[in-house]
Amino acid sequence: MKALILAGGFGTRLRPLSCTRPKLLFPLANQALLDWTFKSLSDNGVDTAVLAVNYMAEAIVRYFGPTKFDLGIIYSREDRPLGTGGPIKKAADLLIDGEPFLVLNGDIISDVDYRSLVEYHKKKGGLATIALIQVPDPSRYGSVELDGEGRVLSFVEKPELGMAPSNLINAGIYVFEKEVLDYIPEGKVSTENEVFPILAKEGKLYGYEAHGMWVDIGVPESYLEANKMILSKLGGITSSNGYEVDESAEILEPCCIGSGVAIGSNSVIGPDTSISDHVHIGQGCRIENSIIFPGVTIGDYSSVKNAIIGENASIERWVKIESGSLIGDYATISDGVTITQGVSICPSKTVTESILSPRQVM
Ligand code: GDD
Ligand code: MG
Repeated sequence: MKALILAGGFGTRLRPLSCTRPKLLFPLANQALLDWTFKSLSDNGVDTAVLAVNYMAEAIVRYFGPTKFDLGIIYSREDRPLGTGGPIKKAADLLIDGEPFLVLNGDIISDVDYRSLVEYHKKKGGLATIALIQVPDPSRYGSVELDGEGRVLSFVEKPELGMAPSNLINAGIYVFEKEVLDYIPEGKVSTENEVFPILAKEGKLYGYEAHGMWVDIGVPESYLEANKMILSKLGGITSSNGYEVDESAEILEPCCIGSGVAIGSNSVIGPDTSISDHVHIGQGCRIENSIIFPGVTIGDYSSVKNAIIGENASIERWVKIESGSLIGDYATISDGVTITQGVSICPSKTVTESILSPRQVM
């Protein structure tokens, strides 16, 4: 079976980290998001993944090459953004082989069982089946109304307050028959706004309610949540070879530690924290529910909580960073600075004064 993965979004809600890498290469428990997806596709009988790439395509091609986890990878490149539907139409010849195919939003981490989804799709006999998941607030997603047979009666993308038909939302995982391609015009198309509502109206769209792990990593809190979910699934302390932890330091599980990492005396790391390769952490530090990208240095007595620190950033001493803040690659946060509440710091910026309210620092 083949799968098309939509891998070309700009990741605007994860800037500035997405200015220097595509969101599908963001690490989760020290492995790129798409690595987790490829692994689960390969385990579920998919043999070929078509990656629809656009923004930072070269970085994706360089990272994955022609094959991963026994999966053949074919790249379908766009010369301009084609939305969520256009890339499927463009890759049609690569997808049609007499079998239905899978379509996935690339920025999702989930343990949806693709085999059961495809079986359900075949049993229902519609043109398309979308995996659905229950969420408390459907406003960021596509919300659906189902009938007792599992048919989608209506599909509303990003419903306004009070307009969502239910809390069951589009999980960004679909099975399509080739006939769905006839519903997608050429050019830039939104599957959610232009294709699903028509299929629903014609009674040809089904919904499959999935349970378990599911997160769209599109915003910082969800990215941290996805990392936490993967870490608790892995359990304990996941580590590579060759890292040095002072014997007075403490690592609280679940936690992931890369190779070449050094952790100084009396520091407490974790839970729910990923420390990438070659990160150096001084003494007396506290790091919790955070993602630290490769090559970061964190000076003595600094703390990082609910935050994401970009590659090679330098956090000096007595620094405090928290509450969904994002620190761009190569930024420097000087001695004694406090950063709280949804602050994003642009790559290579030096910050010498505390920032206590939500702000982007250019
Ligand atoms: N190749 C390509 N080209 N991919 C694109 C483009 C494009 O022009 N635009 C977006 N994508 C990719 C993104 O990289 C992402 O993997 C996927 O398409 C969905 O785009 P998002 O921008 O992340 O959409 P969303 O999260 O707001 O909403 C979508 O996902 C929700 C589930 O997380 C919709 O499908 C919702 O209905 C759904 O509930
Ligand atoms: Mg998304």
